[in-house]
Amino acid sequence: MTSPVRFALTTPLYYVNDVPHIGSAYTTMVADAIARFHRLRGEEVLLITGTDEHGQKIQRTAEAAGVDPQAHCDQIIGSFKDLWDKFNIQYDRFSRTTAPNHAKIVEAFFKKVWEKDDIYLAQQQGWYCVACEEFKEEKDLLEDHHCTIHTNKKAEWRDEENYFFRLSKYQAQLEALYGDRPDFIQPTSRRNEVINFVQQGLQDFSISRVNLDWGFPVPTDDNHTIYVWFDALLGYVTALLEADDEVDLDNALKKFWPINLHLIGKDILRFHAVYWPAMLMSAELPLPGGVFGHGFLTKNGLKMGKSLGNTIDPFALVEQYGSDALRYYFLKEIELGKDGDFNETRFVNVVNADLANDLGNLLNRTLGMLKKYCKSEIPAFDLATIPPDHPLKTLGITLGDRTIEAYDALNFTKACSQIMELVQSSNKYIDDSAPWKLFKAGEQAEVEVILFSILESVRLAAYLLSPIIPNLSNKIYLQLGFSGDFNHIAALQAIAPFEVHSRWGINWPERTLPKPEPIFVRLESPEEQS
Ligand code: MSP
Repeated sequence: MTSPVRFALTTPLYYVNDVPHIGSAYTTMVADAIARFHRLRGEEVLLITGTDEHGQKIQRTAEAAGVDPQAHCDQIIGSFKDLWDKFNIQYDRFSRTTAPNHAKIVEAFFKKVWEKDDIYLAQQQGWYCVACEEFKEEKDLLEDHHCTIHTNKKAEWRDEENYFFRLSKYQAQLEALYGDRPDFIQPTSRRNEVINFVQQGLQDFSISRVNLDWGFPVPTDDNHTIYVWFDALLGYVTALLEADDEVDLDNALKKFWPINLHLIGKDILRFHAVYWPAMLMSAELPLPGGVFGHGFLTKNGLKMGKSLGNTIDPFALVEQYGSDALRYYFLKEIELGKDGDFNETRFVNVVNADLANDLGNLLNRTLGMLKKYCKSEIPAFDLATIPPDHPLKTLGITLGDRTIEAYDALNFTKACSQIMELVQSSNKYIDDSAPWKLFKAGEQAEVEVILFSILESVRLAAYLLSPIIPNLSNKIYLQLGFSGDFNHIAALQAIAPFEVHSRWGINWPERTLPKPEPIFVRLESPEEQS
């Protein structure tokens, strides 16, 4: 027996200075949709998310709250897990950088790089943004040394002895990587940014801090603490350990390494596409499959921020509208890789138009007709007998492959649009073919072709959209009399194998369908709510 294809992916490990914001929810829901698609295809998937808990930013946050940093972290991570549950995110590992296993992995990795002679002590002078946990070039700061990402925060001047990692040594190897593997950094616009940055010449970066307690000590010098980013990136490796594994690097790397995809926001691309591969090259480990840097969300066209007072509370949003509606909007309406806007009215309009009207009403209307014209009975019916030029069959038979291609390219906008095209064509097909007239004229066979081809199209749409709207797909499958649960893919695989159910024209066993129920309740816009 051949072993299943494996696919491992990560979100960033989120800082725990505060409860999760909509940006972290966005990355995590996209990662979940990718993971679900690979699981649907029968692959063995590992979705890693988690939290980045060390460093000055967290230490200061805990100090300000008057609590011990560990107690602070323990308290905040509950809100991340809670939010992921609310968004129906099925992660396999939650990697915490304060987990005891992690200390050993960081130490082992540090030693490999140390023995390679890639670490040395030198003086670090520069402007440090604590919110980014990153040294910044003076030319990259705003007036008065404010950070461009955290515009309300001033970078701090540092002049201290640090350990440095010889990044410059890996310049040529990194350039070769970007040249040999054009997909390593995506999308292309981000890849170009990174290549430009590297071409300007890489400088070694400091990987330790002094006067900072909250972190791991440098194994060779406990006056220093390991830099939070050096520690955090390795959280991806620690996450790969199985519960009963002895904690060492080899065990962590044996099954799911190299990770196929790091999904991150564009602001942390340099760490993942430059520093991280160089660290791995130094440790002589295989490199990940790729890094995808998504865009930033704005609210009503404006940059979001606490200081600007216009953040979006993801908890309130998901409680009000439910996970499927939000997942659909963020995945379809924001092209992955580009910046995107959240406007509540637009969100409600899009979701109502696509999910309530086009999809929900289509199913309801068709089931209503099935009841009236066929007593809700689906006889044994071979969709193969429908001629290939039938409008829904023509679209439907290629949809599976086109959708796989779009999902593989992480183009969720295209995947959703193509699937919705079949749904919209089904609506048009009812209007054009007017089954009510055919029924009156006694053309029962024709009525059946129309209704079954529409139901098959709705089924296929539900199946292919399931990585994005799993709960709604479940409701549709149930209404159509299919068993299986898109939130339990392993069990679903046996009943609805991908190779069969991802294609238009499956075999429908004889059945009587249950009473039609609305599958998606129209959302109220903020204007209607007030
Ligand atoms: N702790 C580091 C990551 C370490 S990974 C080994 C970190 N954490 S973070 O919590 O600050 O950022 C998490 C993610 O949220 C990043 O991918 C970032 O791009 C994303 N976002 C933060 N604000 C965002 C928006 N407004 N819109 C979309 N994503 C944004 O960085």
